Amino acid sequence: MEGKKYYITTPIYYPSGNWHIGHCYTTVICDALARFHKMSGEEVFFLTGTDEHGQKVEKEALKRGITPHAFIDPLVARLKDMWRLLDVGYDRFIRTTDEDHVRCVQKIYQKLYESGDVYKSEYEGYYCTPCESFWTESQLVGGKCPDCGREVTLQREESYFFRLSKYAPALLEHYKKDPEFLQPKSRVNEMVNNFLKAGLNDFSVSRTTVKWGVPLPFDEKHTAYVWIDALLNYITALGYGSEDDSLFRKFWPADLHMVGKEIVRFHSIIWPAMLMALGIPLPKQIYGHGWLLIGGEKLSKSKENARPELTDPYELVKRYGTDAVRYYLLREIPFGSDGEYTTERFLLRVNADLANDLGNLVSRTSAMIVQYFGGVLPARGEAEGPDGELASLAEGAFSKVKRAMDGLNAPEALEAIFGVVARANKYIDETTPWLLAKDPAKRERLGAVLYNLAEVCRIAAILLKPFLTKAPALILRSFSCDENEGFESLAFGGLKEGAKVVKLPPIFPRLDLKKELAETERLAKETSNEAKPASAEDEKAPIGIEDFGKVELKIGEVIACERVAKSEKLLHETVKIGSETRSVVSGIAKFYTPEEMVGKKVVLVTNLKPVKLCGVLSEGMILCAEDGEGNLSLLSPERAVESGAKVR
Ligand code: MSP
Repeated sequence: MEGKKYYITTPIYYPSGNWHIGHCYTTVICDALARFHKMSGEEVFFLTGTDEHGQKVEKEALKRGITPHAFIDPLVARLKDMWRLLDVGYDRFIRTTDEDHVRCVQKIYQKLYESGDVYKSEYEGYYCTPCESFWTESQLVGGKCPDCGREVTLQREESYFFRLSKYAPALLEHYKKDPEFLQPKSRVNEMVNNFLKAGLNDFSVSRTTVKWGVPLPFDEKHTAYVWIDALLNYITALGYGSEDDSLFRKFWPADLHMVGKEIVRFHSIIWPAMLMALGIPLPKQIYGHGWLLIGGEKLSKSKENARPELTDPYELVKRYGTDAVRYYLLREIPFGSDGEYTTERFLLRVNADLANDLGNLVSRTSAMIVQYFGGVLPARGEAEGPDGELASLAEGAFSKVKRAMDGLNAPEALEAIFGVVARANKYIDETTPWLLAKDPAKRERLGAVLYNLAEVCRIAAILLKPFLTKAPALILRSFSCDENEGFESLAFGGLKEGAKVVKLPPIFPRLDLKKELAETERLAKETSNEAKPASAEDEKAPIGIEDFGKVELKIGEVIACERVAKSEKLLHETVKIGSETRSVVSGIAKFYTPEEMVGKKVVLVTNLKPVKLCGVLSEGMILCAEDGEGNLSLLSPERAVESGAKVR
């Protein structure tokens, strides 16, 4: 009889090169799940990869005067490097430029074209190139992309459409029948109420304006829309529609597509509808996880809050190690929700759990066995006092971990494991081995206590293997255990009396919070200096009029103003600039009340890239003078001028 199979996928990543700790979140969770299922004896296929086609790559390559491949290849190598640093053990890394994928995408389009589910029509919409997404006029915010706040362009083109509308009733039915299909529940409400119930429009699935894509076999001036090309990776990676589709037959339907919440719509509506059109069973579950936030906003390069010195995974792994970064990601963010990322929280979490609790337990235990028993494991002896409670907690941990992991909840699984670690540390305080060691009559008891502690270290190490990839092997080896020991050896009492024990150096050195935070600040300054094209000398040097001319300054009239919720510094103004009205956020709440602001004529920089501050869109910067104490005073035109007037 065939054993249990587990097919898990991450989204395939855009080859941006600007990866931050938020990007690692999806894939590290998947890796922990894949490891857990492998250790549970299941046959696992874990897929990740890169989403390489589309206008963004085409443009970037063109800008550099190189081919798209020459542009992407080093980025893909860098992404793989990131996964290597984080010990992400995927079974296939698919690239949408892989030949087998391209061939399969073409076959699928052909099939859908022949069945009538893909047909030719015309498309018009506002396209955001960085997000590779089309928007309708009503979806735009202030004329800009609602996701990233950047410019969009109106594009009209002949296009092939997918008959998405036809599948809305079947999708609704599926949601009703299978409450596990999309998780967490909150995302179901969003998809069903906001999209499905309103009915679905057919969906444009080809472009004539994008050359860097998979050409449609029945009309070569069209390329496949990147999102369709990308979604199909989940089946092309298994050889669907190819001569050898054995992996597809073995692993499909996927057990889990893990995705960030912003791409749930593609995965839970368009993807299942396409599978229905192809007559392929639907994946068992789609999970839309939350985001890592900075200052309440999604950590994102395009929003420029992903300061590399704080959020660069390569740097973090270099400074704190693979296990620390994996542990933070898997433990800190409540699963399904968003979580605020700060360096301080990262350091606190690593110090408290890894350095203090786990690190101390294993180094104290091994050190005492070396000190009192010459590194030879004593006998377990008769249980007394808190021994039974410790042993049963350690043995019972696996079922808690399993329950949590079946619910995809890594933080809860880790909480159960660290509950045992904490109990063992308390056990040391209760049994006071250093006092037992002073009394020769208590030698046997001392041996039993140290045996129990060693056993907890071994069990914790095994349970931690899906989550941490370095420390468990070190711990197991120091107690002369096979580092390949798995869930089958979790019964309490597995360690053999007489086993050699070596003293473990601190596996997670305690981090000095102050020093680390100061170092991060220093790096931050260094990086921002590096980012400046000019040297400090140049900065003082006069600029040319052409430099000044790049800044567009205008007079605006504040027509409404309110405080930004949860911020002491920020005001949110609605500013009229000629015939245009803009949303502007400025840090002047300590110096002006909202009432005072209304009616004021101010000077604004009007050609800055829009940003979001505390979640509010800011499309300009109001200029102020600052005195020696940091007090701000607004600049206003000296005589009456109309809003919209240029400042020069
Ligand atoms: N290429 C698409 C996916 C196509 S799948 C058929 C894409 N790529 S991505 O590179 O932008 O995102 C990759 C993963 O990183 C997504 O799961 C996304 O949600 C995740 N994250 C990016 N920023 C994140 C945070 N700040 N926090 C948590 N995860 C985030 O989307």
